[in-house]
Amino acid sequence: MEWNFFIYSSIILLIFIFYKKRLHYKRLPTPPGPPGWPLFGHIFQLGTIPHRTIAVLKQKYGPVVWLKIGVVNTMVIQSADVASEFFKNHDLSFADRNIIDVMRSRNYTKYSMALAPYGVYWRVMRRLCTVELFVNKRINETVSVRRNCIDHMLQWIEKEANSVEGRRNGVQVVRYIFLATFNTLGHMIMSQDMVDPESKDASLFFTSMKGMMEWSGEQHWILPATFVKKRIEENKAGVRKRKDLLDVLLEFEGGKNEPAKLSESEITVFILEIFFAGSETTSASVEWALTELLRNPETMIKVKN
Ligand code: HEM
Repeated sequence: MEWNFFIYSSIILLIFIFYKKRLHYKRLPTPPGPPGWPLFGHIFQLGTIPHRTIAVLKQKYGPVVWLKIGVVNTMVIQSADVASEFFKNHDLSFADRNIIDVMRSRNYTKYSMALAPYGVYWRVMRRLCTVELFVNKRINETVSVRRNCIDHMLQWIEKEANSVEGRRNGVQVVRYIFLATFNTLGHMIMSQDMVDPESKDASLFFTSMKGMMEWSGEQHWILPATFVKKRIEENKAGVRKRKDLLDVLLEFEGGKNEPAKLSESEITVFILEIFFAGSETTSASVEWALTELLRNPETMIKVKN
């Protein structure tokens, strides 16, 4: 009897929530889009090459298409004019990210730049990126570092290509590109060789980051903390000469209405996010460019010359 009551009332509650949601959305006009499945939305319709599937939808539904990826409402914009209108007039309404629960564990969102709502903290961190990271000065300063990382990468690839295993199975080049990108970032951000076999911290960090990239769901965000703490000790002992991004973060002094200093946790998460932002993106882009060049031998010749 009690179980029946529980089951019936749960069903009634679910129906109520479902219809309430539907009524709510009915009041809000949404852009056009194809009909989707309940709960799954359009996931199954996207296919293995989603950007091509979505490009085809443009012909039927126009440049703004409304999709549901599972239960997540998603608006796809496929025209430069609409994108420009969108970013000019509606940027703030869409600037904040959707935060999934796993990201809240260990207070990650409290220190994150990538997930921060639009506001003072996000602006401060983005300004640091703009003036300290994405500037010619830092790019020029690190030419030799990048050259070194690329030379190492070529040596690793050559070694594997000449090994018995490599000759039999070929070489998965992107593994080495990722490693080289990761190492370049390590040098640029905190003057740290991330592939140094002697450094347990570096190897642990690398392994955990690879795990996170593959969505193991684990949160090893505290790992760069080891490097931050080590640097604070080095600075106290006055043993360092060259100033890198980590020093800039440690010496940060905020202006009016800004945080006076950055905490160790904020710096740790910032470093982690730069690794996130810069490693997989860069290695995937290089992999894609190499694939296209191999598919287009004439272009490859032009690039080589
Ligand atoms: C080919 C390589 C790269 C691609 C394709 C790429 C792509 C992107 C995209 C699409 C965004 C906007 C994300 C959004 O707002 O939703 C972004 C933001 C960003 N990227 Fe990259 N990126 C690349 C390399 C890098 C590198 C090397 C770094 C750092 C060294 C970097 C640091 C950042 C930062 C700090 C942001 C801003 C994050 C925020 O404001 O929350 N990216 N990138």
